Amino acid sequence: MLHLADSITRLGTESAFEVLARAQKLAAEGRDIINLGIGQPDFRTPDHIVEAGIKALRDGHHGYTPANGIPGLREAVAADLAKRHGVEVNPDHVVVVPGGKPTMFFAVLMFGEPGAEIMYPNPGFPIYESVIKYSGATPVPIALEEANGFALSAEAVLAQITRKTRLIIINSPANPTGGVTPKAEIDRLVAGLADHPHVAILSDEIYSQMLYDGREHVSLLQYPEIRDRLIMLDGWSKTYAMTGWRLGYAVWPESLVDDAVRLCINDHSCVNAAAQHAGLAALTGPQDEVHEMVAAFDERRRIIVAELNQTPGFRCADAAGAFYAFPNIEGTGLGAREAQDHLLAEAGVATVAGTSFGAWGEGYLRFSYASSIDNIREAIRRIRGCL
Ligand SMILES: Cc1ncc(COP(=O)(O)O)c(C=O)c1O
Repeated sequence: MLHLADSITRLGTESAFEVLARAQKLAAEGRDIINLGIGQPDFRTPDHIVEAGIKALRDGHHGYTPANGIPGLREAVAADLAKRHGVEVNPDHVVVVPGGKPTMFFAVLMFGEPGAEIMYPNPGFPIYESVIKYSGATPVPIALEEANGFALSAEAVLAQITRKTRLIIINSPANPTGGVTPKAEIDRLVAGLADHPHVAILSDEIYSQMLYDGREHVSLLQYPEIRDRLIMLDGWSKTYAMTGWRLGYAVWPESLVDDAVRLCINDHSCVNAAAQHAGLAALTGPQDEVHEMVAAFDERRRIIVAELNQTPGFRCADAAGAFYAFPNIEGTGLGAREAQDHLLAEAGVATVAGTSFGAWGEGYLRFSYASSIDNIREAIRRIRGCL
């Protein structure tokens, strides 16, 4: 009989990967499956980025790099943030990691322990709640509501702060809802945080380049008053269609950056060197393909939201950012999990139950529209046929 630590039993998962595995198994058995479940761009990484990765390998970049990332890449991140958000970032405060997830894990490990409280969006990216529980801290959900466009309410967040609150995780544009929190609400949140100097903020801005209808991204980096307690997470996975390269970064406050780098050294030493060179080419090269991808997502978004709203039992709020639609499906009479399983088995359409993103996701399904327009239309046609 093995004696495992309790903590491992508290670790959750990301159900999108389980749905993907089931969808792939059905496809391998010969079923025609349309996968609107997994949250990754269906585009290839732009060629010039792939070439930079290949060149790095040919040029002999085969060894360890500094744990926080090659200096040129961290400088390029700082330059990119200056260009996109108009902020000054010290490249030494940038820590390059294998994807977006490690920053979440590290931030929560730094602040989470029994007796501590960490706030996180619900429905939200499932790894937040999972790693908070793993750390032993108490997860305190920030309930996101359809009626509010799934934006967070500063008032609700501030009202939940206690002496035990150590970290607040926010995410805009958001997974799984596509919700975007307006600047006025972020202004209110930051103003209110002045009364709670013991609270740190993790702002997950991985979808920062995916906003629609003229919306502009508001980065928490743009608020100097919280820079000494802000961890800003972003990366290459979504923007440059690089999920499999495993490359992300965070800007850490000066007081935490050494701890973050020590976590890197303990965890993974450094990010794959060729991937870092590819990431450098992504930031410094042409951005046309990023704009083309976002334009394609926008077109699909309009189609899927309209189609879902014309599907009996479905009601879909405007999806303001990222590449997800999060319709309310209460009118179908099915629970979220039931609907997910039914649509996969009967319609051959993979979606993810809202409850995979927390208890507040009951009554909703997540559709990733990182798929072709033909697939989206066919998926909706099949769903209408099987409900
Ligand atoms: C909100 C959010 N943050 C972070 C990530 C993680 O990205 P990565 O694949 O780079 O770890 C995702 C991936 O789906 C996400 O939706």
